[in-house]
Amino acid sequence: MLIKNIFNFIGINFKNYTGLAMNDLRGKVVVVMGGASGIGESCVNKLSDLGAKVMIADINEGVGIELKNRIKSKGGEVEFFKLDIFYEDQIKGLFDFTAMTYSRVDVLINSVGVPRTVAPDSEIKDMLVEDWNKTLWAHATSAMLACKYVLQHMIDAGGGAIVNISSAASRFATVDLAAYSASKAAVNQLSKEVAVTYGRNNIRCNVVVPGAVLTERGRKTLDNGAFELFATETPLPRIASPSDIANVAIFLASDMSAMVTGQAIDVDGGMMSKLPYWLPKMRSSRGDFFDKTTCQL
Ligand SMILES: NC(=O)c1ccc[n+]([C@@H]2O[C@H](COP(=O)([O-])OP(=O)(O)OC[C@H]3O[C@@H](n4cnc5c(N)ncnc54)[C@H](O)[C@@H]3O)[C@@H](O)[C@H]2O)c1
Repeated sequence: MLIKNIFNFIGINFKNYTGLAMNDLRGKVVVVMGGASGIGESCVNKLSDLGAKVMIADINEGVGIELKNRIKSKGGEVEFFKLDIFYEDQIKGLFDFTAMTYSRVDVLINSVGVPRTVAPDSEIKDMLVEDWNKTLWAHATSAMLACKYVLQHMIDAGGGAIVNISSAASRFATVDLAAYSASKAAVNQLSKEVAVTYGRNNIRCNVVVPGAVLTERGRKTLDNGAFELFATETPLPRIASPSDIANVAIFLASDMSAMVTGQAIDVDGGMMSKLPYWLPKMRSSRGDFFDKTTCQL
């Protein structure tokens, strides 16, 4: 009690987080950008099961409204907002509409994924500035604008949690995805900036960094051969499901992670922890040691 009073006196908001489940999300207002499908859809379903009030924001109105109706028919509190992240006024409008509908905004999960047909990419020597700018906007500028416009609502609500979905491409070079990789690396650093700048407002900001995920987008980006390669080369012997990624996003949105901020957490089955392609050369110089590991090169 004395410690609590001291913290209160010096202006630090000291909370007692004792709950072991994510019950704190019950009644919280959560915006899921890119919530109509894939990882975002999985977040929407789980959040609604946990009793959150969810705002699905997506460019795909048909699929988004279908999802909203399915959740409403089960008694969930959910609304849909048609959003195109290439328009700043629509991003601002999303949070104003959410605050008007539910009187506050507590959590933002940003899972928008713009397809390569809309946000083109290439290796650096062939890069068109137009493509670079479009892809940087698609993943980094839109994430910055979402943070920009949600922050005041979270400050008004006394705190909040932001979770951005990045990519393993933010951690290593992918040869012909220069703009996508750079944009996702920007999301990781942007999230750190938000965490450090707004921590005293009781706002946390973290990133989930998926490897390969079995969503429609994942299937379009990677062919079956690539999926098979990921499944054999990743230490955990399968490809992640949208639910695997959503579970960690929701953990980061809930008070279960109350002291976690500014982090980018890899959810990749160990893919990025594994020794790289030159491993076979090491194996030949060190006998059969590596044969006893899970590496299958
Ligand atoms: N699937 C993977 O293998 C994988 C791997 C690493 C990272 N990621 C990242 O995870 C996130 C979610 O990807 P996913 O696989 O669930 O993709 P998805 O295509 O299933 O979901 C992305 C959602 O974003 C929406 N969207 C697209 N353009 C939009 C726009 N202009 N405005 C608003 N909404 C728009 C889509 O309609 C869709 O509902 C993305 O940021 C992606 O980069 C995915």
